[in-house]
Amino acid sequence: MEKIHEDVIQEIRKRTDIVDIISSYLPLVPRGKNYFGVCPFHDDNHPSMSVSSEKQMYKCFSCGAAGNVFKFVSEYENIPFVKAVKILADKCGVSLDIAIPISTKSRNEELYQIYDLACRFYQNNISTKEGREAREYLKMRKLDVSIIKEFGIGLALKNNTILSKLLEKKHFSKKNLDNSGLLVKKEVLYKDLYYNRIMFPLWNMSGEVVGFSGRIYEGDDPSKYINTRETEIFKKGELLYNYHRAKQSARKLGSIIIMEGFMDVIRAYSIGIENVIATMGTAVTSRQAHFIKRMANEIILCFDGDEAGAKATLSCGETLLKIGVTPKVIRLEDGLDPDEYILKNGKEVFQEKLDHPMNIMDFKLRYFKNNKNLSSPEDMASYAKTIIEELAKIDDDILREVTLHKVCEETHLEFDFLKTELLKKIGQIEKPVQVSKSNISIEKKKNYEIAQQNLLYYMLLDKQVIKQYIKDSPFFPTDVYRSLALEIVHFYKENGDIVIADFASRVELQPELKETFQQLLTLDLKDSYKMQEIDDYFMIIEQYNIHHEVMRLKKKVKEESLPSKKAEIARQIVLLKQKESKYDKRNQII
Ligand code: UTP
Ligand code: MN
Repeated sequence: MEKIHEDVIQEIRKRTDIVDIISSYLPLVPRGKNYFGVCPFHDDNHPSMSVSSEKQMYKCFSCGAAGNVFKFVSEYENIPFVKAVKILADKCGVSLDIAIPISTKSRNEELYQIYDLACRFYQNNISTKEGREAREYLKMRKLDVSIIKEFGIGLALKNNTILSKLLEKKHFSKKNLDNSGLLVKKEVLYKDLYYNRIMFPLWNMSGEVVGFSGRIYEGDDPSKYINTRETEIFKKGELLYNYHRAKQSARKLGSIIIMEGFMDVIRAYSIGIENVIATMGTAVTSRQAHFIKRMANEIILCFDGDEAGAKATLSCGETLLKIGVTPKVIRLEDGLDPDEYILKNGKEVFQEKLDHPMNIMDFKLRYFKNNKNLSSPEDMASYAKTIIEELAKIDDDILREVTLHKVCEETHLEFDFLKTELLKKIGQIEKPVQVSKSNISIEKKKNYEIAQQNLLYYMLLDKQVIKQYIKDSPFFPTDVYRSLALEIVHFYKENGDIVIADFASRVELQPELKETFQQLLTLDLKDSYKMQEIDDYFMIIEQYNIHHEVMRLKKKVKEESLPSKKAEIARQIVLLKQKESKYDKRNQII
């Protein structure tokens, strides 16, 4: 991978303000010197993330996420660090002359190449003579050429050997050909898995093709769509169809629409609705829910209008509620899916629906009332009970109150009675306890480890401590701390100062230091310190080193047989012990 020069990264960092960038993703409010917002990296509704304009760093007190502006963008967008640098470079007008690879794919590079090639092959087929029927099918479904192109729709030909031959010629490894899920082995020969199907590429979050879904368009194959199997780069539970296209417009509009099928998404897109993604017909996983949560404040579920779609709305709603998101709901009449609905009713009618989504509780009232006769006491009791259970799950006091009034009217039960029942129910549901990362890392660290950590922390904040380090030149016993200290000194000597937000970029490109640096950022230390504390840390480390050396010599003296050598080592031990006791005395004074 090509490396971007550190100076350039620093320049981009200087031209961007972390507060501006982060507030373009989530609301920040000023408090004291810093800004606070709800951390997007863990389930939370409280503003536990602080953003420091002074340090140009962010940090979450609850989950320990921390770093500079590049790190934030890279984690938020789920893209490699260098790609975040590139995005911010574009934003602040710094030109990067080098081509940055779209992702750090090294390990699976070949798999990506296989899908990329297959995608281009399928796309090309659609405009050939053999593609005539497929073209007619797409025309019948009212997908025009520009949409076919935008969504990379292609065709697997009737002949089921062409892709196999093409891929084999390219000398891809056998392992990856087998893994790709595009070919099937017939004895020794490969055959194409897909033939005579319309091919829809599936992209990962950064927009790379990682799989396909192939649709029948003639004949009577019982499986409508066949998806490629899961690989290291394609996990169904992580993918959201159209995520990479939708995220920008979702952010701009503050709203994201979720549908079931990718045909629905393509249809919505074709009428200019771009903030839309699809779950692809499976239950939404909590990982997907987290991605959805980050896309926008308003989340609208627009599933198929049939009974299955209502069930899917309920289940997806559940998954979102669990992570503190209260989605809105749109139901389409006559059991239609969004694709059919738009084709039948047109853009304006659909847009009108989008502009007036139901709140999730109204949807649930409607859903649970279905097939119930509220004038029957049994039905009414079970209805009220269900709604109270549902209300206990949402994290929105006003919506609770409003819904409770509605149930009150419908059932003629006393408001106070319903409220008490609800409060009882809420009391039963225990909120999951957040385990804070920083608490875990504190687990009984030894003295000298804490001293090294704290020193590194203050070295990162103040060059005075680095100067002291250079002067004292202590030996950090822990390898990775020693490397990090040397790297800090290095940075200071090159730049004449320490700027933690820039040092963070350097470390990000050094895998062996990254994790330790991250741990340091999550330390709960105050930013100011006394020089005396710094001296103490140096002393603790020195003491440890002496102690360690004494132990080593003691072992050596035992093993040594030559009396003169034995005496020499013993003398060294005595000297060291004298030094050690001097420290002990100082220790008592402190
Ligand atoms: P639908 O059956 O609602 O598909 O399945 P659709 O969007 O209406 O498609 P068309 O209009 O018939 O072409 C929703 C999603 O479920 C997955 C697909 O991802 C589809 O987009 N699915 C459906 C499959 O994976 N396999 C199938 O056989 C059917
Ligand atoms: Mn459909």
